[in-house]
This record gives sequence, structure tokens and C-alpha cells, in this order.
Amino acid sequence: MKAVSYATYGGPKVLRVLNIPTPVPGPAELLVRVHGAGINPADWKLRSGQFRRLFRLPLPFVPGMDIAGEVAGVGSDVRGFAIGDRVFAMLEMKSGGAYAEFAVVDGSLAAHAPVTASSLEAAAVPLAGLTAYQGLHRHGGITSGQQVLVYGASGGVGAFAVQIARAAGASVTGVTSTLNLDLVRALGANDVLDYRTADIFAGPRRFDLIFDTIAKVSFRRWRNVLRAHGTFVTVNPVIGKLMPAMLTRALGINRVRSMFTETSAGDLAALARLIDAGQMRVPIERIYRIDDVAAAHEHSAGERVRGKLVIDLGGRLDTRRTGASISAASNVYR
Ligand SMILES: NC(=O)c1ccc[n+]([C@@H]2O[C@H](COP(=O)([O-])OP(=O)(O)OC[C@H]3O[C@@H](n4cnc5c(N)ncnc54)[C@H](OP(=O)(O)O)[C@@H]3O)[C@@H](O)[C@H]2O)c1
Repeated sequence: MKAVSYATYGGPKVLRVLNIPTPVPGPAELLVRVHGAGINPADWKLRSGQFRRLFRLPLPFVPGMDIAGEVAGVGSDVRGFAIGDRVFAMLEMKSGGAYAEFAVVDGSLAAHAPVTASSLEAAAVPLAGLTAYQGLHRHGGITSGQQVLVYGASGGVGAFAVQIARAAGASVTGVTSTLNLDLVRALGANDVLDYRTADIFAGPRRFDLIFDTIAKVSFRRWRNVLRAHGTFVTVNPVIGKLMPAMLTRALGINRVRSMFTETSAGDLAALARLIDAGQMRVPIERIYRIDDVAAAHEHSAGERVRGKLVIDLGGRLDTRRTGASISAASNVYR
């Protein structure tokens, strides 16, 4: 099969498209013919070697954590899936394997893909969608009627978070830059703030839940706009930056959560239901061919992505798709 792989850590140039053996699923695994693979910042961060002190990747390594496609093989112990089923899944960070024509996934971690989304749209969902869903529900304890602020509302995690928070009945303020105000409004934010022109820390607004998907602002500043007993959730698990947050938590003033996303078939199924209920759409900025993955990594590393980036591994012409045409449904920005 064709796959993207790298044999050493480094810049985008270490990425190679190779022919490698198709993986063989174990008894608890599914073999998936990958139609689309989502791109996440974790992919280029791992490739650059910045996590190598935390864990070593098995090099050569096939990157990517997000897949959607069709079941091509079912391990003897797997229940609930049959050949030909459309599925999506988040692969483990340390094993990767998404940027390839076939991938194996633990059968307990895959979910049936949303029926109204194309495979490319479904492929854009897992890591960013799970981060938004778990950040708001599991860590944030979101409830209807709350005032919720999403910082970084135009990125992959933020774009899903705005919609998931609205679906939970919250009133959502999305923070982004000038170029992306319309996108965030179109995703359903009740209010949008431009962090380049507005001082979001000086105004009268107070929030029950702040979801920081960017982690460039210190908690000291966030505390000014967080209600007493409000909850602050960050995707940045760096303890040093969170010291002030730890103190306020110790004093019982705010709840502070620093999160690592976990792969979960149940949460993926919840995301599929939101999509099929029309409460969440998948904004895709760009679709890349497998040969252009280096350009995709460069774009992602520039930190200006609007919505999601995906690699097309054959899903674009997915005839099983039941929704509207991809450009209309997924809001592909070109
Ligand atoms: N802890 C975990 O388990 C976990 C899980 C998933 C992701 N993450 C991390 O979460 C972060 C976000 O992921 P993502 O997939 O959403 O990334 P992404 O799609 O690449 O985010 C891009 C967005 O970030 C916004 N942005 C960049 N700098 C900003 C700033 N200073 N202030 C406000 N917005 C800014 C940009 O908006 P503008 O162009 O308008 O500035 C852009 O739309 C990444 O660092 C990722 O590694 C962590």
C-alpha cells in the first residue's frame, strides 16, 4: 500500500511517500481502507521530535491519528462491525498510521461514521472533535444556559467547540482574529471577539466556562473574566504555566482543568449524532493529495488553519455518501 512515512525526526522534508506492506489486523482489530486522514498539530510536533523526551516513536513511522474509511477486514474478536461499514477513529499517538491507504484500529476504539458526512469530513473529526467534546463535557461540565468562551474558535478544536457548546445550550463567545470573524459567526457563535482589536480581559463580560484551545495567554489574565466558581479548561498540560491556576483551585475559587484527549468510541458516536442531527458541520479549509503532505504540515505549523485540513486517500468520490456535495456541506474554503 501507499503510505507517508519518516525514518528520522526533522522538518517536512523527512516525509516520504513509500510502498509498504499492508498491515494485518489482530483478533481485536479492524483493517480500514482509509478514504481520508485528518491532519493535526500533533502530527508535525511529533515529526519534529519535540516530544521525543516523553516517548520514542517506532521509526520509520507512519504519521496521523485521524482516519475515516471502510472496513476491509474484521478480527475474530471484534463485534459490531462488518466488511464495508463506514467507520471513523482516532489512532493512538504513539502508533500513528493514518496517512496510508490502509490502517488497523482496535475494534473497541472505532465508531460508525456519521451517515450525512463524506469520509473526508468524517476524517477531519476525531482528535479535534474529541478534544472539543471532552474539554467541554468531561472536563468543563458544560450545562445549558452557561456563558462559554472559546479561545482559538477558528482552529480545528475551536470550530468544533463552538458548535458543541451551542448544541449543549450554552451562549458562546468565540475569540479569533479579524480574518476569521465571519467563519466563527457562521459556526453559530452568539458573539465574536477579535483578539487583535478587542481587550477581552478588560470588558464587563464574565464566563462560566472558558475553553482555551491555544494556551498562549496566562491564567492570571483569564481569571479576570472567569466567574467565581467558573471552570477553565486548557489543552496545554504544562504545569509551570498553570501555577496561578492551581493556587485559585486550592483556594476553591475556580475549577481548573488541563487535559489530554483520550480516544473513545462512545464520544465519537456522540459526535456522529451531532453531525447527523445537523448540529455540527465540518469546516474543511484544504484537502491535500498524499504527495502534498509536506505542504500540509507546513500550513498547519503556521498556526493559521481555518477549520481542518485533510488528506484525500480516495474518499472524495465516495459513492456511499448520502449528504450534499462536499463543497456545500463541508464549507471547503479555497
Ligand atoms: N492536550 C491535548 O490532548 C490536545 C489535543 C488536541 C490538540 N491540542 C493542541 O491544541 C492546539 C489547538 O489545536 P487545533 O487542532 O485547534 O490547532 P489549529 O487548527 O492549527 O489552530 C489554528 C487556529 O489557531 C488560531 N490561533 C493561532 N494563534 C492564536 C492566538 N495567539 N490567539 C488566538 N488564536 C490563535 C488561529 O486563528 P487566527 O488565525 O485567527 O489567529 C487558527 O485558526 C494545538 O496546540 C494542539 O497541539 C492538544
